[in-house]
Amino acid sequence: MRQEQQYELCIMTKRTEKATAFDFARILIAWQKQHGRHGLPWQKTRSAYRIWLSEIMLQQTQVATVVPYYTRFLRRFPNVCALAEAEHEEVMALWSGLGYYARARHLHRCAKVIVQKYGGRFPMDAHALAQLPGIGRSTASAIVVFSCNIRAPILDGNVVRFFSRLFGIDGYAGTRVTKERLWQQAELLLPGRNVKAYTQGLMDVGATLCTRVRPACERCPFADRCVALAEDSVSALPTRKPSRALPQKQVVMALLVYRGSILLKKRPDSGIWGGLFSLPEEEVRAGREGAAEMRQWATCFGGIAEEERWNNFVHTFTHFRLHVTPILFRMSSAISLANDAEYVWYALDRTATAPLPAPVKKLLLRAHANAVSPNSGA
Ligand code: ADE
Repeated sequence: MRQEQQYELCIMTKRTEKATAFDFARILIAWQKQHGRHGLPWQKTRSAYRIWLSEIMLQQTQVATVVPYYTRFLRRFPNVCALAEAEHEEVMALWSGLGYYARARHLHRCAKVIVQKYGGRFPMDAHALAQLPGIGRSTASAIVVFSCNIRAPILDGNVVRFFSRLFGIDGYAGTRVTKERLWQQAELLLPGRNVKAYTQGLMDVGATLCTRVRPACERCPFADRCVALAEDSVSALPTRKPSRALPQKQVVMALLVYRGSILLKKRPDSGIWGGLFSLPEEEVRAGREGAAEMRQWATCFGGIAEEERWNNFVHTFTHFRLHVTPILFRMSSAISLANDAEYVWYALDRTATAPLPAPVKKLLLRAHANAVSPNSGA
């Protein structure tokens, strides 16, 4: 091919890409205005603090779950300075039940950096934001788009799914090559203006139409050009992570109850449920029962009056499955833990506001009901 011909082809392709991008944004924005989500609490503000908080809470969590947490959190911490000054335990308590607790730890650290390094004002630059704890490239973009109307592409899990299907992009999005391809697509499609409605439109299509299971293709404004729909590969895209059987872990959790209080243990800051309180636990390994070790261990904290084994339950994390056998020990006496940094006797009637993981909180509520009326909870 002659050099001029190649050049012309190149211009043609650029023009076609631009036209396609323009078309895409126009259709998406029109759809968002008519069918997208409006009136969400974080859509009523331009405050970077409020938008940042909403974006962190909305990572891996649905809108309906986030709204009450968001409202409570802002009532207690109305600005980034209030959050930065808070006790970490209180931040974790307000996050308790929302899951993925590393988000809360990063959130608190990030608030401190914003105050110390930026005098309490969020930098309105996606690259600077993406350097902060807990803020990735897509979240940084969403913050500058929604608070300042700055052009920046997003690529969260929902957008990955939407683009993978629409453009027939296969390959696991966790790999560098596929991720780069998807980011390129996100940059290419970004319109010159109206970026708020455009970005909200991407989020809304991903959350309400192009869902993981049973997508509503019949209502999708892009159905006529969707590669996956044409090729009957909607359920196969996006390409799943190459599967690995989830490791299993089995533990006994002890509920030591003495006069309306329960023994809790502070978890280390890193790892699962990091920074939260939880129940003391003992791993059940081959050749060990777990319960016997736990009974023996419990005597270090006082005398055991009664023991009651509750039904097993399973809690699934992203990278392993935890099988839990709860055992209630009603104590006849308890040692004082006044100066202990790790263990605490915690009043059961404060359970509702304690910084606990959701499945542990459930157990404590049951223990509380049981302590008030011993035959009600077992
Ligand atoms: N998911 C992530 N960010 C969101 C937002 N701003 N609105 C609705 N859902 C979202």
